[in-house]
Amino acid sequence: QAGNRSRLVEANKTAAAFFVERLASPEAETGRRFLTERGFDSEAAKTFGVGYAPKGWDVLLGHLRSKGFTDDQLVEVGLVARGGQRGIYDRFRGRLVWPIRDTSGDVVGFGARKLYDDDEGPKYLNTPETPLYKKSQVLYGIDLARKEIAKRKQAVIVEGYTDVMAAHLSGVETAVATCGTSFGADHISVLRRLLMDDGVFTGEVVFTFDGDAAGQKAAQRAFSEDQRFTAQTFVAVEPSGMDPCDLRIAQGPDAVRELVERKVPLFEFAIRTELKGHDLDRAEGRVAGLRAAAPVVARIRDEALRPEYIRLLSGWLAIPDDEVRRAVQAAG
Ligand code: GTP
Ligand code: MN
Ligand code: MN
Ligand code: MN
Ligand code: MN
Repeated sequence: QAGNRSRLVEANKTAAAFFVERLASPEAETGRRFLTERGFDSEAAKTFGVGYAPKGWDVLLGHLRSKGFTDDQLVEVGLVARGGQRGIYDRFRGRLVWPIRDTSGDVVGFGARKLYDDDEGPKYLNTPETPLYKKSQVLYGIDLARKEIAKRKQAVIVEGYTDVMAAHLSGVETAVATCGTSFGADHISVLRRLLMDDGVFTGEVVFTFDGDAAGQKAAQRAFSEDQRFTAQTFVAVEPSGMDPCDLRIAQGPDAVRELVERKVPLFEFAIRTELKGHDLDRAEGRVAGLRAAAPVVARIRDEALRPEYIRLLSGWLAIPDDEVRRAVQAAG
């Protein structure tokens, strides 16, 4: 019920303030160094509400109990967990913490990064599914990016918390990130509202996946998500494989903006990915490339767009339109 929801939001808000305060403690030295090495000064940390969760098992628990929150509320909102020998304990310990807010600015959950390789648990730990935190809908940074997304009719999807920070600080203020899940239909629903203009869908979505294998896979998944949406979808991949955070450190903010400007339509990206590794200077390579790319073109449902891509593929392969069309029909 509504009363309970606002109490859970209040618990998260209080926790977020606690984490921010703890970022200044001696124990958080490694966390502060992590931020500095990533090119984030204390002002940037403040803008994004980055904090530090102390190492103890019940430091946050004790703090929130003293503020009048019940153990049941804290378990329900995912800040503490029950089980094991300890009975009840803080979920996030010894980690750098990012508060995740919804469109209206309510803190719905957290993402937390470990600071030492041999610390227990995964590199990033998130709030579990709770009444507030639905991981399939969560977009980190949406509270900060919302206005700019609606104004520019563009959303840039990056992979991580540090990438959202780097993008915004580089002038790409339409950047948001999924939190440990792949981009899906529920994220589209959240964005669609912002990207509509007078009830007409006019916006574009730009994915900046890492150049690594996981990033390529994510692009492929985006392809199959929603074709009506996909017609407006672009991919921006840095050739060196760097993510926006690393790119800003290595080459500065201009490089991050240029990465987004160099976006390629998702269909083109997917087709060119299939052509990679084939020697298009040879007949055998071109035929193999056609065989690999035809199924991708066949999956384009837009009746106006498919013939366009048949024509483009024909040009890239130097194989006549008719032959490409036959291959696509056979693959579909
Ligand atoms: P950093 O060293 O923090 O910059 O990580 P990275 O750039 O190597 O991270 P990667 O590209 O692998 O992942 C980017 C994002 O994916 C993170 O911000 C998380 O949201 C998510 N992610 C990565 N690893 C994990 C994990 O082990 N668990 C969860 N839940 N999410 C993860
Ligand atoms: Mn990656
Ligand atoms: Mn990685
Ligand atoms: Mn990355
Ligand atoms: Mn990174």
